[in-house]
Amino acid sequence: MTGREETATTTGPADPDTSALEADLREGFFTDPPTVPPRWFYDEKGSLLFDDITRLDEYYPTRREAEILRARAEPIVGSSTTIVELGAGTCTKTRVLLDVMAGGADADSRSEARYVPVDISVEVLLDAARSLGEEYPGLEIEPVIADLTALDPPLPGEPGQRLVLFLGGTVGNFGEAQRTGFLRMMREVMAPGDRLVVGFDLVKDPARLVSAYDDAAGVTAEFNLNMLDVIARTVECTGLDRRDFRHEAVWNAGESRIEMWLRAVRDVRIDFPTLGRTRTLAAGEGIRTEIARKFHGDALIDELAGHGFSREALWADEGGDFGLALVVVD
Ligand code: AVJ
Repeated sequence: MTGREETATTTGPADPDTSALEADLREGFFTDPPTVPPRWFYDEKGSLLFDDITRLDEYYPTRREAEILRARAEPIVGSSTTIVELGAGTCTKTRVLLDVMAGGADADSRSEARYVPVDISVEVLLDAARSLGEEYPGLEIEPVIADLTALDPPLPGEPGQRLVLFLGGTVGNFGEAQRTGFLRMMREVMAPGDRLVVGFDLVKDPARLVSAYDDAAGVTAEFNLNMLDVIARTVECTGLDRRDFRHEAVWNAGESRIEMWLRAVRDVRIDFPTLGRTRTLAAGEGIRTEIARKFHGDALIDELAGHGFSREALWADEGGDFGLALVVVD
């Protein structure tokens, strides 16, 4: 697996973040509407803000998913010897599974228990890996700095013995075509017998969905606006100022998704000299920074089945807010 090895703090042509963001802007920022992929939320500050979001009253997904993981940890871990976690972040939700794999009754038989957290936020990932290493001395920890949409085979660990986690509902961040591409890639990097767990948010009352993405304390607003600071710091630009934008979360019923926008509060003109491009926004126009697709019952697990993953289990929390699909590569 390869990925970005470091995050530089200065901007320059050699900075891999700079060229990656420039490519993303070229692709999505000069179209209508302008879009920026959600991966640019997650600098160190953004990762910590997301951590704050997971503790908000309004943001139920993290707690509901943790409830399912606690209740189903044994069947999820099964006889896996490697856990690969995509978008691991602070690795907090995984402990309940690591306890089973590295500390449970069968731990001795699993002398090679290995945990592979994959994330794009290097500081947060390495900190989390370090503290996990102290907590689980028997566990081999192999952090990978990578964009989870571009994994290279083979994944670490014994083919057929891997458990890949894609939690939190991040699968909802993909557009329909992107999700298809992601599932194809996963099928390619995984081997027969390897299992995949996908956490996904369920369609529910739009008012609850919207407040989960527009909390009263304004943490999600800050998380969204922080992306502008990341852009301004990572690529050369003038005229990009967070004070010209406000956070907005809307439910798009037709597409079954929450959308996060940064809405211009006045006319804006942003120049990107290295791209040779200018973007203007009239007051009221917006930049779409994230989509968060919500699924009905079986829809996602049926889609997984169409990509060579057989259904092992499908669970929801007691309130029916959040789902977890467990599938195995045919
Ligand atoms: C981490 C992508 C699952 O979509 O719910 C939270 C990110 N954005 N609040 C989500 C997020 C705004 C989160 N995921």
